[in-house]
Amino acid sequence: MKILVTGGCGFIGSHTVVELLNKNYEVVIVDNFYNSKREVLDNIKEITHKSFGFYEADCCDETAMRKIFKENKIDAVIHFAGYKAVGESVAKPLMYYQNNIDSTLILVKVMKEFDCHKLVFSSSATVYGSPASLPIQEDFPLSTTNPYGTTKLFIERILTDIAHADNEMGVVLLRYFNPIGAHKSGLIGENPNDIPNNLMPYIVKVATKELPQVNVFGNDYDTIDGTGVRDYIHVVDLALGHIKAIEKIKDTAGVLIYNLGTGKGTSVLELIETFARVNQVEVPYQITDRRPGDIAACYADPTKAKEELGWEAVRNIEDMCQDAYSFVKKVKNL
Ligand code: UFG
Repeated sequence: MKILVTGGCGFIGSHTVVELLNKNYEVVIVDNFYNSKREVLDNIKEITHKSFGFYEADCCDETAMRKIFKENKIDAVIHFAGYKAVGESVAKPLMYYQNNIDSTLILVKVMKEFDCHKLVFSSSATVYGSPASLPIQEDFPLSTTNPYGTTKLFIERILTDIAHADNEMGVVLLRYFNPIGAHKSGLIGENPNDIPNNLMPYIVKVATKELPQVNVFGNDYDTIDGTGVRDYIHVVDLALGHIKAIEKIKDTAGVLIYNLGTGKGTSVLELIETFARVNQVEVPYQITDRRPGDIAACYADPTKAKEELGWEAVRNIEDMCQDAYSFVKKVKNL
């Protein structure tokens, strides 16, 4: 089976490509390196000792997308490509709507032209907005608080409408919680160039002394220690969820929706403490004001994915902290 992976050089995309190759799927990657590095291609080869197709192209480029489908008989697509920074999406909504939605529309149009009807979409727990209760189940009401989240929600709706109108179409919407960690090899992981927005890459930059301290955004939430609680999931567990989604969708039509999370909440201070302990490094922090738009707590009910996909996250917070740090130490020769 040949799988096209859009954004296959990105953080989650690259880990998913590795797991697909490990399971002997044929893989074609399309990536424009907007938010990823070219060396990821060599690193995937070094981990897997397998070859795969690669196209440097933007998914909004219809001609380029058509060329990929013309040159490859694609059986299914995993669509990761997209802009993902919440804050930037508030400042540049047009850019986010245009890129994330256009690329998906073009992708599906070209897929249909070439008789490809199976799609796994990289959605996010952000579509649950501020949940009324926890843990979050897939049938909870949906709402968003920023343009990035709205692109995810709009795309979910667009793909659902397309699938409803086409009884051959099979779509899996995977709602990720907070992916962190890295591949055990230390060859692929998350390494943003700029000052990170997300907690784990920020902690890593403090541990490597590139930044002085973690700013903990508020300690007066109604949580175990007052700091925000999230469902951190190891990126390799998340990648394996995509394999299960592909296995499920290959003979099914319609729309299937799954939370990919661990079901366990971890606070900001717990994550900082665990990172410092397992890696034997100092992670200084200071409490600052809440970040606008943040919610107190967010964690998944992952039961549906376990029952229907036979998938469950097995790596714990210690593994996530260790693997994230090993990757960065390797990148920075520490
Ligand atoms: N936090 C800090 N300091 C930081 C960064 C984050 O205290 O420097 C806190 C936040 O307040 C929050 C927690 O750490 O309580 C996690 O924040 P992240 O920015 O790492 O993650 P979010 O849960 O805010 O958002 C992430 C992704 C979104 C996605 C969402 C899905 O960034 O893209 O998870 O739930 F939509």
